[in-house]
This record gives sequence, C-alpha cells and structure tokens, in this order.
Amino acid sequence: MEQESRKLLETDRLILRPWQDADRAPFAAIVGDPHVMRYYPNTRDRAGADAWVDKMMAGLDAGTSAFLAAERKSDGQLLGLIGTAHIDMNLRGNPREEIGWVLASRYWGQGYAPEGARAHIAAAWRRGLPELVAFTAAVNTPSQRVMEKLGMVRDTEGDFLHPRIAENHPLRPHVLYRIANPAHS
Ligand SMILES: CC(C)(COP(=O)(O)OP(=O)(O)OC[C@H]1O[C@@H](n2cnc3c(N)ncnc32)[C@H](O)[C@@H]1OP(=O)(O)O)[C@@H](O)C(=O)NCCC(=O)NCCS
Repeated sequence: MEQESRKLLETDRLILRPWQDADRAPFAAIVGDPHVMRYYPNTRDRAGADAWVDKMMAGLDAGTSAFLAAERKSDGQLLGLIGTAHIDMNLRGNPREEIGWVLASRYWGQGYAPEGARAHIAAAWRRGLPELVAFTAAVNTPSQRVMEKLGMVRDTEGDFLHPRIAENHPLRPHVLYRIANPAHS
C-alpha cells in the first residue's frame, strides 16, 4: 500500500505515475522552455532533462519519494511533474520532503497543479509523513498561489537564500511554505 501510494495516484483529470522513457522528449520540451523555467536560473537541455528524469526514476526505484509524471487522463498528454521528493538541503525545522510542480505552459491556469498536489498530500499523510514543505523563488507568485490553494502556510522565518543559486542572483531569495499532517497535530 505504501509503495502504491508513492508510485501511482489518480485524480478526476490526472494520472500521477512513474516516469517512462516515452516521457523524455515531452519533458525535455517543458524544461527547455524559457517561459516555463523563468523562475529557475537555467533551462535544461536534452541531457539535463534526461538527467532529471534519471534522478526521479532512480528515487522511485529505490523506494524513496520522487516527483511523479502528471499525465492527463483525457488524452494521455504529459503535463509535467507533480509530486513529493526528498529534500537534500537544510531548511528550517529539517523537513524531510517537499511538494513541487512544473507544468507545460499551455496547461497553466486550469487547476492541474493543485489537483495533483492534493492527491500527493493525502498520500503523504497516509504514509505517516508529519509535514510537507514547498519552496520557490520569492518572485514566483504562480507557484505560491498553488501553495496557498493547498492550505500551506508561509513560514517567513524559513525564508532562505538558495545554496545552489549564485550570490546576488535575483532568483536566490526563496520562500518556504509548510503544511502539517492533521493526524500529528
Ligand atoms: C506553478 C504552476 C505549476 C502552477 O500550475 P497551474 O496548474 O497553472 O496552477 P493553477 O491553475 O492553480 O494556477 C496557479 C496560479 O498561476 C497563475 N497563472 C494561471 N495561469 C497563468 C498563465 N497562463 N500564465 C502565468 N501565470 C498563470 C495564476 O496566478 C494562478 O493563480 P489564480 O488561480 O489565483 O489566478 C505553473 O505555473 C508552472 O508550471 N510554472 C512553471 C514552473 C514553476 O515555476 N514551478 C514551481 C517551481 S517551485
């Protein structure tokens, strides 16, 4: 059951599932698009996109948490990634997992990210995770809107300068949002 909840989720409009090799080309188009990646320091070329997919596949194979592919049920299109993943840096309170999303721009504004994220939050609570955080560049207001729609709360004391973004880069200041497992409060 735990494996199942980490690896396959379904919502009204979405299947959230492990990555397949057929996702590599559409995922590379998404993360190679400067508009999609405007709140990241760089776009990814094909090799960079493949490395990202490899990392997510490896995380899922190892039984740890990694972002899932978000596929639209109606036509099987890859919308992007939505999921929870292990955090590999120090954040306030040492949270274990983050929730995140990146979608192709033609699918924005239709509530897909919050819809998929709600299923991931429910799955995280089912497997007993005490909390989830989300973080993004302070200027990334669309992503923060998703966090707010999910009922996540901004932890201003958790604001941080992203350690892998260059000093003085405008995307370096990051904000942190949290949501706690209601069964743990
Ligand atoms: C953040 C993101 C996943 C939101 O997904 P989504 O499915 O569009 O989410 P929603 O439909 O709930 O819209 C969220 C907000 O995005 C903004 N938005 C919606 N359509 C938009 C568009 N066409 N262009 C720009 N922003 C848009 C709005 O502020 C919206 O909030 P509102 O519903 O209160 O108006 C998506 O914008 C995205 O992939 N962005 C690029 C990648 C990224 O920055 N990911 C987060 C990294 S931490």
